[in-house]
Amino acid sequence: MQICVIGSGYVGLVTAAVFADMGNHINCVDIDSAKIESLNNGIMPIYEPGLEGMVKRNVKEKRICFSTDVGSAIGEAELVFICVGTPPKEEGETDLSYVEGAAKTIAANLDNYKIIVNKSTVPVGTGELVKRVINENKKNGAEFDVVSNPEFLREGQAIGDALNPDRIIIGAPSKKVAMKLIELYATIGAPVIVTDVPSAELIKYASNSFLAMKISFINSIADICESAGANVIDVAKGLGLDKRIGSQFLSAGLGYGGSCFPKDVVSLIHTSKKHGVDFDLLKNVVKINESRVKKFTDRIEERFGSLDGVTIAMLGLAFKPDTDDMREAKSIEVVKRLQDKGAQIRAYDPVATENAKKIMPDITYCKSPYEAAEGASAIVIITEWREFRLLDMDRLKDAMVSPVIFDGRNLYDPDRKKGIGFEYYSIGRPDVKGQIRV
Ligand code: UDX
Repeated sequence: MQICVIGSGYVGLVTAAVFADMGNHINCVDIDSAKIESLNNGIMPIYEPGLEGMVKRNVKEKRICFSTDVGSAIGEAELVFICVGTPPKEEGETDLSYVEGAAKTIAANLDNYKIIVNKSTVPVGTGELVKRVINENKKNGAEFDVVSNPEFLREGQAIGDALNPDRIIIGAPSKKVAMKLIELYATIGAPVIVTDVPSAELIKYASNSFLAMKISFINSIADICESAGANVIDVAKGLGLDKRIGSQFLSAGLGYGGSCFPKDVVSLIHTSKKHGVDFDLLKNVVKINESRVKKFTDRIEERFGSLDGVTIAMLGLAFKPDTDDMREAKSIEVVKRLQDKGAQIRAYDPVATENAKKIMPDITYCKSPYEAAEGASAIVIITEWREFRLLDMDRLKDAMVSPVIFDGRNLYDPDRKKGIGFEYYSIGRPDVKGQIRV
């Protein structure tokens, strides 16, 4: 099929690459000419495993091209995918100005029947908005239909998620229109849900909010575990084995971050208010999530009495492992709170350092966990990178002023840490306390 993808960001680029790999012809466009120039030089604007190879292969096979010429790309396409950004406004409501802009551009270049597909995460009702904007701005009587086909890509695993999704959601105004999308996804063996546009739009927000709810739920259970002497890892295991609940997204820690969950949960709260529904449950999901870092840093302060002049080694800065993305990363709030208490931060992250420097220029960046630990009174673990599981603990201990670990992601076994002489504080598990006072 001939497809135009509007927006060469995270969603657009992955979508374009995967559709091209499935044998379609893709025109991937963006208003940002610098981004298009980089892409034409083979430079990816984001770090995503497998993306670069897939893009280059399809560029070579002439199945994908990048340009700023939106007009011709739309003109040639049967399907036009809207993959532009949907950032939050000040109050957390979704800013749809880029989506509206894309709809106006489509209207200006609509000269024959096309299916317009919303892939960006957009609040329920956006399909209607796109339809209205195109109808108000089109220059002739050309027909079109609007479809909702949300993505469920996780950063770091986006290519795999696009090729092996749990489900494909198609919200279409008619069976005939839905068939075109079913044809597009024919080679992907996932269950397909065909529904109306508003239901498809809501499925995306309901999914992300539900997962965020699981995280806040297990984090509250972790708080009880800490006070009751229980172990949240065992509780989550016992809970998750109930098939009705499922074992994923029950890792207690510093809470959820990233470019999706925080904004999507707040956006759904706004949407529900608009529809006269008071979604108190979700408000509390946010409240619990926002309380995690304060609780964690208060514990660190309590351990040392005062953090004034205390050096802290921070392992992990990205919002989750296998990405350099710092958006809504918990490290930012942890650094701010520790600095406000007078601590000095020495940080290490395998890939996010360059992005972190732009946000937090005033901390010391180190080339290894061992360098970060030099002169530190405590290590704090913020992101569960795999390499942190394999550290030489004796070497770390030798570099430190006092062997104390605050683990925000439950990476280690407390008994083992005790065995090698560390004080160890984690989330929702009994503390391994020491005698050392600094
Ligand atoms: C998410 C959704 O998973 C994806 O379907 C959607 O399209 C975009 O948003 P992503 O933002 O890449 O993907 O991150 P994800 O892997 O889902 O993790 C989100 C956050 O939750 C991270 O900060 C992670 O650390 C946290 N998390 C996840 C927990 O705290 N505990 C868990 O058990 C799982």
